[in-house]
Amino acid sequence: MTEEIRNGYEQADWQKHYDENDLAWDLGEVANPFVRLWEDKVLQPGTLIVPGCGQGHEVIYFAARGFQVTGVDYSPGAEKLLRDSLRTKKLNAQVLHQDFFELDETHNQAYDNLLEQTFFCAIHREQRPAYVETVSRILKPGGLLFGLFYETGEEGGPPFNTTEDDIQGHFAAAFDIERLEKCSFSSEKRKDKEWLAVMRKKPEDQTG
Ligand SMILES: C[S@@+](CC[C@H](N)C(=O)[O-])C[C@H]1O[C@@H](n2cnc3c(N)ncnc32)[C@H](O)[C@@H]1O
Repeated sequence: MTEEIRNGYEQADWQKHYDENDLAWDLGEVANPFVRLWEDKVLQPGTLIVPGCGQGHEVIYFAARGFQVTGVDYSPGAEKLLRDSLRTKKLNAQVLHQDFFELDETHNQAYDNLLEQTFFCAIHREQRPAYVETVSRILKPGGLLFGLFYETGEEGGPPFNTTEDDIQGHFAAAFDIERLEKCSFSSEKRKDKEWLAVMRKKPEDQTG
């Protein structure tokens, strides 16, 4: 067994966090950089998917602003928190309780937008190619991935360290990287540790 797999999390490990209400990653609100992208009209209404959405502050925020939102998380605890919150706020969104990597073909090229936050760093490094394959499959050609990638600067995980080179190395073949910068308006606990990326899926004949 490799070091990464030994350190990696399975579904039961994530669910334990929900059982124990130990959600250290949870900002308690929508991440500010996504709010800015919306206010600056970079993020435009349409279909939007949030992989590994947790309790789904982004799902709630964008559902309230006219997006058709899909949140995906395989932990029952996350699903419950999100469904309760949607019900309380009288909002609609699709909540999928399943493995993100197993989204079926009805999701192919279905999304205009995808929001990445602390999911890429939550999965095993070995799953990163499958992440890129899945997001490429479900985004429309020209669809946008808005990502906050976490550079922990630490060994092991989760969260697994994500560098600028990791982002370039994994995404450049399938995406035009339109923006990649250290985020200057992250939450306090992620200050100077987040890469903000805006990446546009290339048309299929331009990938490779
Ligand atoms: C670190 S938490 C981040 C949650 C949320 N993005 C946030 O920032 O608050 C990672 C989440 O990904 C979910 N997750 C991990 N692997 C998954 C997979 N293969 N498919 C779906 N959800 C997954 C976990 O259940 C957990 O809720």
